[in-house]
Amino acid sequence: MFDINRVRSQFSSLSQGFVFLDAPGGTQVPDSVGAAVAQNFKDASGNIGFPYETSQRIGALVDEARARSAAFLGCTADEIIFGANMTSLNFTLSRTLGRDLSAGDEILVTRLDHDANVAPWLELARDRDLVVHEVDIRDDTTLDVEHLERLLGPRTKVVALPLASNAVGTTVDVARVASLAHAAGALVWVDAVQYAPHFPIDVRALDADVLLCSSYKFCGPHLGIAYGRRELLESWRPYKARPVGLDPVGHRFETGTLPYELLAALVATYDYLEGIGGIDEVTAWERALGERLLAGLPERVRLFGSPTMDDRVPTFLVNFEGVSSDDLSVALAKEGFGVWSGDNYYALGLYERVAWGTALRIGLSHYNTVEEIDRFTDVLGVLVAQGGGRRG
Ligand SMILES: Cc1ncc(COP(=O)(O)O)c(C=O)c1O
Repeated sequence: MFDINRVRSQFSSLSQGFVFLDAPGGTQVPDSVGAAVAQNFKDASGNIGFPYETSQRIGALVDEARARSAAFLGCTADEIIFGANMTSLNFTLSRTLGRDLSAGDEILVTRLDHDANVAPWLELARDRDLVVHEVDIRDDTTLDVEHLERLLGPRTKVVALPLASNAVGTTVDVARVASLAHAAGALVWVDAVQYAPHFPIDVRALDADVLLCSSYKFCGPHLGIAYGRRELLESWRPYKARPVGLDPVGHRFETGTLPYELLAALVATYDYLEGIGGIDEVTAWERALGERLLAGLPERVRLFGSPTMDDRVPTFLVNFEGVSSDDLSVALAKEGFGVWSGDNYYALGLYERVAWGTALRIGLSHYNTVEEIDRFTDVLGVLVAQGGGRRG
């Protein structure tokens, strides 16, 4: 049984009465994660690699952060690469792969992707004369896998795709796409930023070649984490300062000094997640919350994406005919609810296809309660009936 009170008691930020429904933008952080940053500055100053205690502690911390991230993603510690955030890691890794690509080689991206998994390929294509194709979606926002199959060809080198959409929450059957992509000789490059907070990840079961996520989306520090299949990483020529060692292989792609205090925070994040029963527990709880939300949304809602909790994460994009989403978001903030209003949400291909105008993104996290959801849908219903609540 998921102990929501125990979960919430670990977050000072959740004791103020404000209801955070903005998890896809960034989650709240348990106090232990913040404390780990401060503790690291006290215990493990300076830098790695020296024979005295405080430096040795940094070495042990980096090893632990790699091992724990590997356990989180289902790979080995040497396959983990840390970076500033997902976007920076993706530019770095795509450009590294790009050294082996030739003019005319093709990359597939999808309409469900956040631009952090599209722009790196467009920029690489511009510099190296590659061709980028965009895989379409069906009207229900699920990936059009038949279209993907038609686009796959002998020149396809990479299929870049998300596990879950940051805008509409739709999930993708990456394992199925991976078998098609691999049969065509292409790499599978997965953006797991919006999936990692909600479902367990096993990169081997997905058969991903590269997978990226960001720990500030799952109650951790602002830090990017990537997995790269070992043989692939070994085959790449890294952009690195020359004296940097070649082992572990993932380290070759980490430029400069790592943010040790954030790695300490990351270890504390994994401790927190394990302490609440792991992501499996989170999945079941969030499904129940999502069902509650869907059942309570005002009748005139326009929901973009799956109308049930199947094939989605608990991220819901909605708007209401004749009601300004921006006004709603401001009015909701005044009532104590944190919900974003926006247009493309960085999902440019999806926005072009679905054209929702502006919409509210309601993003649930495991720290939300049934009572919060009920209160939210009640207030939303009143505001929508009043035409959105006025600004000012
Ligand atoms: C699906 C998805 N991919 C990538 C990113 C970019 O992540 P980062 O902020 O770590 O660069 C985001 C950010 O919201 C996202 O939602």
